[in-house]
Parts: sequence; structure tokens; C-alpha cells
Amino acid sequence: MSEKFLWGSATAAYQCEGGWNEDGKGPSVWDTFCHSPANTTGITGDVSCDFYHHYAEDIRMMAESGQNTFRFSISWPRIVPKEDRIVNEAGLAFYDRVLDECEKYGIVPNVTLVHYDLPEYIGQKGGWCYEGIADEFAYYAAVVFQHYGERIPLYVTINEPNHNAYCDYCVGNYPPNHKNDLQSYAHCLYNMDVCNAKAIREFREMGFKNSQIGIVQGCGPATSLQDTPEYREAVKYCDYFCNFGILDPAIKGYFEPELLEAVKARGIDLSFMKDEDLEIIKNNTVDFLGQNIYSRLIVKPNESGITAFTVNNAGNNDGTCKTARETRAIAGWFESDRDTDTRLNKWGREIYPKCAYNTLMLRKERYGNIPIYVTENGHGCYDVPDENGYVEDDDRIAFLNDYIGWILKAKEDGVNVKGYYCWSTMDLYSWINGYKKRYGLVRVDYEDGLLRRIPKKSYYWYRDFITEHKDV
Ligand code: NOJ
Repeated sequence: MSEKFLWGSATAAYQCEGGWNEDGKGPSVWDTFCHSPANTTGITGDVSCDFYHHYAEDIRMMAESGQNTFRFSISWPRIVPKEDRIVNEAGLAFYDRVLDECEKYGIVPNVTLVHYDLPEYIGQKGGWCYEGIADEFAYYAAVVFQHYGERIPLYVTINEPNHNAYCDYCVGNYPPNHKNDLQSYAHCLYNMDVCNAKAIREFREMGFKNSQIGIVQGCGPATSLQDTPEYREAVKYCDYFCNFGILDPAIKGYFEPELLEAVKARGIDLSFMKDEDLEIIKNNTVDFLGQNIYSRLIVKPNESGITAFTVNNAGNNDGTCKTARETRAIAGWFESDRDTDTRLNKWGREIYPKCAYNTLMLRKERYGNIPIYVTENGHGCYDVPDENGYVEDDDRIAFLNDYIGWILKAKEDGVNVKGYYCWSTMDLYSWINGYKKRYGLVRVDYEDGLLRRIPKKSYYWYRDFITEHKDV
């Protein structure tokens, strides 16, 4: 792989592919959830922007805007649709076609093995808490490594383990929709640690010389608005909860004993931990870190004595931004704080560009010179198109410009940043937020029956930005 800085954009299988039951694909937990009454919105990713049939056009447009890398995920149930472990050749062939297109334009693929969409047969057995999940995942990962080999220079095991576990078991807005279930949250994260390590063990056995493997973290380090011993404790506990339970084992190969003690002291039963797993974790760490960057995680001491998690999936388009925020609180540990001087987006999430710099600098402080790819960064908006479908998304441009500025500053200040991916390549399904919350550089017209792609102003801005920053 060339050593050029990678400039690209990102998607995920369930969010963009559509073709949910085509060519032998099995259902994922998201297919089942979206088709069930638990999905009160009734909105699904059945078709979405139909990347399954539009991939050639989407990749061509990426290339035309100068992007030299594409982050996407493989749908596990497209490759191993059923419990019998029989491999679906048509599934493998689809991603071969995607890789052919990337190769045609010299676009470096950065490929995630699972981005929330577990196969339904794993879901039935307990999903991420199923004790056999790491062996199933390692099997699937080995099929992928064997088939695509070094055609894929950057592999990612799991997208946003902590956010996935958090939505599944704390907030309850993702399947299996448990609320405040900290026991399952801990179990889920641990199984993800083992999945990551067992997949990496398979990867190492392939003996690749030109491919690397990493993990993608969803949030940045915790921070606080005051610097007192109590606030520092709150930050530490929030990092235990959101960051260190995944990143320490994945990067350093072990859990901090203090973290495990703190978790046990909360009454969480850690008897699912096994010495043989810890040995595998120790010997199978990542080559790089993928870091998604959106906003800060500001916390203060937990004064309420409450454990609660809130999200805003509904959005608010009245222009006030006075929406329900994303908050988290764990009794005795920490709770979310708010800096009232900072702007929120329409879903109550902070817009704070400097968090990009702080995140990268703190990762370096804890994990040394590990190569880092900013695997997602983007701005969710209610885009308003003109009569031709063109969107003048100046707000998104300002957002991207400011965040990238801070990322490049972190690189100048010594962080080993190797690439940047804007979320998202084109408009797609935004999970529980549906289709109204748009992130794409390219608009998708969901109403015209053709799913026409129309580049937004940000697409052209990004093209020019890349030209000017090719050699950073
Ligand atoms: C993180 C996730 O990886 C992606 O799936 C999601 O749509 C974006 N962030 C935007 O919230």
C-alpha cells in the first residue's frame, strides 16, 4: 500500500446495501428488528440507497472527487447466511465486484468485518452475549481473509464496539433492546474483545505482508469542564465505561486491574472471563486504531445517584437546537455535563471541532505512536435540496473544514494520523434516525424511483480540499 495520506469516505453494509434478501443473503439482527413491531418507526434498510446495485456508480463518483480510499463493511450474513457455516459464494462475489471497482481507480479499501449487523442466527442464541460468538466470528473472519487476502490492505474487526454494546444494552434503541442492563453490557464488551483477538489470530496465521488489521472506536476520551479530584474521578470512570474496556485489550493486550476491580465493585459478575481468552487477547493486538470523531464526552461527578441513558433519535427541526440530548449517567461513577456555550446539532449532539485534536493527542498519550485512521467524521443535517436536487450544505462544509483542520494540527504535533474518512459517502439509512438525518457528500433522491445520486456542494468542496492537501 502506498504511504500517501488517505482521503476518503465511509459507509456500512446494512446502512447502504439494500438487497437484504438477495443472492442467498441470510437475515441480520437488523433485518429482523426492522421488520418487527419493536421498530416503531417502520423504517427499514431493505432498499436504502441500494449500493448493492449502484456500487459502480458510487465508487466512480468517489474517484472523480479525488478520494483514494473507501471504508465499507462486509455483511456477515451475506457471507455465512446460516448456522451450518456454509459459505455463500454469491456474497463473496459481490464484494469481489466492489473491490474490482476500487482497484480500477486506485482506491484503497478499508474493510470492516462487522458494523452492528450480526447474523440473525447469532442473535437468536444471545447475540454478542452468546458464548460461542467469538468462534463463529473467527470462522467468518478466516473465510474473508482467505478469500480476499491482500486485496484488502486495511481490515477492521468490529465497528464501534462500545457504542454498539451501549445501544444494545444500555439505551435499548438497537436490538436486542435491553435498557440499563449493565451486566450484559460488560459481557458484550468482553465478548467483543475476544472476537477481536480471535479474528486477529486468524489474520496472523495467514502471514500477510501487505495487509494490516485494526479496530474502530466510536467515541473519544472523556473530559470535564472542571479540574478537581472528583471531576478527574468521573472522567476516569467514564473512560472505563466507554473506552478502556475495549481499547486497552485491543491495543495493549490486557485490562487494567483497577478497571476490573471497579466493575466488580459495581456488582457486575465477571465470571465469564476466562484465562484462555486473556492469553489470546494478550497475543493478538491490533496494528492500527480507527477512531471515529463526532463530539465530546463531557462528564461530572454523579450527584443524582441515578443510572440512566438518553438519546435523541427524533431530531428537532424547529431551528432552536433545544432538543433532548445524548446523556449517560452511572450512579456513583459519572454523569453527562453540558457546556452551554457550545452549539448542538438538531439531534442534541455537540459541535466542537477541537475535540478532534484532543481525542488524537490523548490517544497518543495512552497508546503511543500507533497508526490512527480517522475512520468517521461528519455532520448530520436535514438537507434542503433545490428544484434540481442540489444541496448547498454550507453548514456541513464548515463542520468538515473545522474538524479536519484540528486533525491536521494533531498530525503536525506528532500523532501518527494516516488517513481520514468523511461519514458518509452518500446519503444512507441512519439506523433509528431513519433517512431524514443525512450525512452524505452525495444526495440520494429516495423519491424518484431511481435513487438518483446528486453531488452536494460539500462533495465539490471535499474534492478541492483533497487536491490542496494531497501531500500532507
Ligand atoms: C457511527 C456509526 O459507525 C455509523 O453507523 C453511524 O451512522 C454514524 N456514526 C453516524 O451517527
